[in-house]
Amino acid sequence: MPVIEVKHPLVQHKLSYLRDKDTPTVHFRKLVEEVTLLLTYEATKDLPTEDVDIETPLEVAPMPRISGKKVAVCPILRAGLGMLDGVLTLISGARVGFIGLYRDEETLQPVEYYVKLPQDVADRDVILLDPMLATGNSTAHAVQLVKDAGATSVRLLAIIAAPEGVENIQSNHPDVMIVVAAIDRALNEKGYIVPGLGDAGDRLYGTK
Ligand code: URA
Repeated sequence: MPVIEVKHPLVQHKLSYLRDKDTPTVHFRKLVEEVTLLLTYEATKDLPTEDVDIETPLEVAPMPRISGKKVAVCPILRAGLGMLDGVLTLISGARVGFIGLYRDEETLQPVEYYVKLPQDVADRDVILLDPMLATGNSTAHAVQLVKDAGATSVRLLAIIAAPEGVENIQSNHPDVMIVVAAIDRALNEKGYIVPGLGDAGDRLYGTK
């Protein structure tokens, strides 16, 4: 599936503040939430609707309501947590699953440390949250994990992706819709996206 890069001026404006090393944690957190909300809008544009009869104060008329599956939103810990409220602002009834993965800094491979998914995840549209799609190894692991739990519809929201990460997901999980604010130039030798925004978790939570 082709990757969707959201070029909307609001997204790009907020992203430039996220990239700025001098943006403080308090603003960074808010901006991640706002960008995620805008990505959610884009990522859900194909949700099916069906007309239901609505009684307005004047008459009854058929109006569209979202039909089909309900949503499970699954942040990949810890940085994905920063994106959660952005999705829930628009999809308040979503169930939430947590996927705890960290990246082994030597092998760059994902290590699972905590997984708690909604019991009915197989019946839901899954939205995975991972702000930095770098090598894509952790994210591909998370996609496989929700698929193993029965999910058949998976969307991935990331703030910034590296070309390598996009290619990883597209080749291993071609059915997954990827929505990002930007696809950056490359990964550096330490696995960071450049120009990127640094370590999303550290910048969200003020750790270093
Ligand atoms: N994770 C981050 O937080 N930043 C990167 O640039 C790559 C992975």
